Amino acid sequence: MTAHPKEDPVTGELHFFASSPFPPYLIHHVASADGHVLTSQEVPGASAALKHDFAITEHHVVFLEGTVTFDPNEHSGIPYGWNDAQTSRIGVMPRGEGRAAEVRWFEIGQGYAMHLANAYEDAHGRIVVEGPAVGRAGWQRSWNWWVGAPDRGAEPNSGSRSRRWSIDLTAGRVSEEDTDDLVVEFPTINDAFIGREHRYQYALAFPDDLGIGNHTLVKYDRATGARQLRPVGTGQLPSEAVFVASADGADEDGGYLLTVVSDLNADASRLLVLDASDLTLPPVATVHLPRRVPAMIHGSWIPDADLA
Ligand SMILES: [Fe+2]
Repeated sequence: MTAHPKEDPVTGELHFFASSPFPPYLIHHVASADGHVLTSQEVPGASAALKHDFAITEHHVVFLEGTVTFDPNEHSGIPYGWNDAQTSRIGVMPRGEGRAAEVRWFEIGQGYAMHLANAYEDAHGRIVVEGPAVGRAGWQRSWNWWVGAPDRGAEPNSGSRSRRWSIDLTAGRVSEEDTDDLVVEFPTINDAFIGREHRYQYALAFPDDLGIGNHTLVKYDRATGARQLRPVGTGQLPSEAVFVASADGADEDGGYLLTVVSDLNADASRLLVLDASDLTLPPVATVHLPRRVPAMIHGSWIPDADLA
């Protein structure tokens, strides 16, 4: 099971997938809200391309195959590498048992998207998919860091930029475009909008493209095109920013943005709680943690009501 399952906020179903460098390359699973596996289907046409994240819409499941594939000659311990011979594709599969054979694969430009922000069906019936994507040089730079190569940079800043793919199922065409010039990763949204059009998206940005100096939380307003930045300070490494709806939050951004920030100078971490409706306001709370936690990783919020 891969790291990024998607819970449909309307049905409560949990979608997730298994992928392998060997056949079967891709198996899609759905579990019910009460935790029983409902369907498991092999997805035809998938390849050994690296798959880390995916997306759902109201009626479809969206898979992404980038220009990175299994490489048995890669001896770094993580046997994947950029491969120009690997075609980048988006697979769109109708949701529902027995529909896997209807998957359609669409060729897209070279690149690799580690994480997706969201996907949805727009008013014209197109499938819109968004997430940061990286090119060959950025991939290599990031990879060198992760595997500890001698020429690695200061951090795994990969040059990934926000990208949008729009798939017209009727015409059988995909258009794609960069939607912003910031280098970003860890895209997040209000999870109540998974699979539906979202207005707000959050991410970690690396505005100087150099690394540890200037990490910034960023909030995008897709309706106005506005972008809000909140630097966390020199030598401060934020982790994925998680949106948590407030108890009375009626608006999509009515709630909090949570991120664990690691202070490399003080060897300490703190949980930063921001007002998601305006990231420039003073923090709602800062929780000093008793020890430093690993920096720059994913985050999840689990309300205690869900643990009862
Ligand atoms: Fe991930």
